[in-house]
Amino acid sequence: MSTILVTGGAGYIGSHTCVQLLTAGYDVVVVDNFVNSSPESIKRVEQLAGRKVTLYDCDLRDRKALTKVFTKHHIAWVIHFAGLKAVGESVKQPLRYYDNNVNGTLVLLDVMQAHDCRNIVFSSSATVYGQPEKLPLTEDCALHVTNPYGGTKLTIENILRDLYVADPRWQIVILRYFNPIGAHPSGLLGEKPNGIPNNLTPYIAQVATGKLPALQVFGNDYSTSDGTGVRDYLHVCDLAAGHLAAIKKIDHSGLYVYNLGTGHGYSVLEVLHAFEKAAGKTIPYQIKPRRAGDVAACYADATKAARELDWRAELGIDEMCRSLWRFYTQNPQGY
Ligand SMILES: NC(=O)c1ccc[n+]([C@@H]2O[C@H](COP(=O)([O-])OP(=O)(O)OC[C@H]3O[C@@H](n4cnc5c(N)ncnc54)[C@H](O)[C@@H]3O)[C@@H](O)[C@H]2O)c1
Repeated sequence: MSTILVTGGAGYIGSHTCVQLLTAGYDVVVVDNFVNSSPESIKRVEQLAGRKVTLYDCDLRDRKALTKVFTKHHIAWVIHFAGLKAVGESVKQPLRYYDNNVNGTLVLLDVMQAHDCRNIVFSSSATVYGQPEKLPLTEDCALHVTNPYGGTKLTIENILRDLYVADPRWQIVILRYFNPIGAHPSGLLGEKPNGIPNNLTPYIAQVATGKLPALQVFGNDYSTSDGTGVRDYLHVCDLAAGHLAAIKKIDHSGLYVYNLGTGHGYSVLEVLHAFEKAAGKTIPYQIKPRRAGDVAACYADATKAARELDWRAELGIDEMCRSLWRFYTQNPQGY
């Protein structure tokens, strides 16, 4: 079976993808510098899959170390998750974000090319659509970013497009994720951010555990079903499966772009109530004014991925919240 290099494989989405790759029979090589993860997640991946991962503690920008990885292994595909992803932090540290995400990708692409490996799946984000020009968002909607994190994603997409024009032998798959949440059903893998979380469900989870006093809901006067913001949440296991679908289905050169989402939006209060059901407790919340830059609603048209990759998100909001809560209760200190 072929060998897949997973950059950022110790992270949240990467670790879930590694389990599925190993289970499907692929050999997995991970490159991660653990800037936002722990080697413990790889141990758990191995435990869940019953197979070993070859792990390199290495920064993507370290060309020498990365070259060694490509010299040692014959890599069929690279699934490229490694990157920094906190929007707020990116506003404060734009140079660090561009250096890590864009330079890391440039070194990776260059080393791949030097080793005749031209197959890559890249983790992009719905953030590249900025203020949605229409809903649901299709892959051909206008791209417009509103923060440096989004800037790194769009820059990398543009680099990949230019690379494909220069050398059409590449197979490049750009996956634009909507809002991945949830955790592995075993409760062994998940995401536990350090400090005060930026994202909705980790925040709710911390209110549920008593670490934070109440969920702050920014705006209840949007033109949505209950006035709160609507996003397209998808289960991290469904998202992971999208990567396997891509490497299985794409078998000729090209540049492919897919939205990965459920195509369905949930409001903040719907997520909150699903979480209350999962945790079996009431979760306090306070309505606050709208935040600048937030959009009322954002959800995907994911029919292209269904049509071309035969991929669909299958798990609903209840399972997303149940699995996240299981991970939190089984791992109160994280990994
Ligand atoms: N989680 C989301 O909501 C979301 C949404 C859209 C896109 N994405 C993108 O998906 C990818 C994976 O996201 P995630 O949620 O799993 O994040 P994560 O932070 O859990 O995982 C990223 C991994 O990359 C590693 N990494 C970062 N910079 C590195 C470098 N220079 N060299 C080696 N390793 C490095 C980190 O240590 C971490 O293990 C990221 O590129 C992210 O921008 C995530």
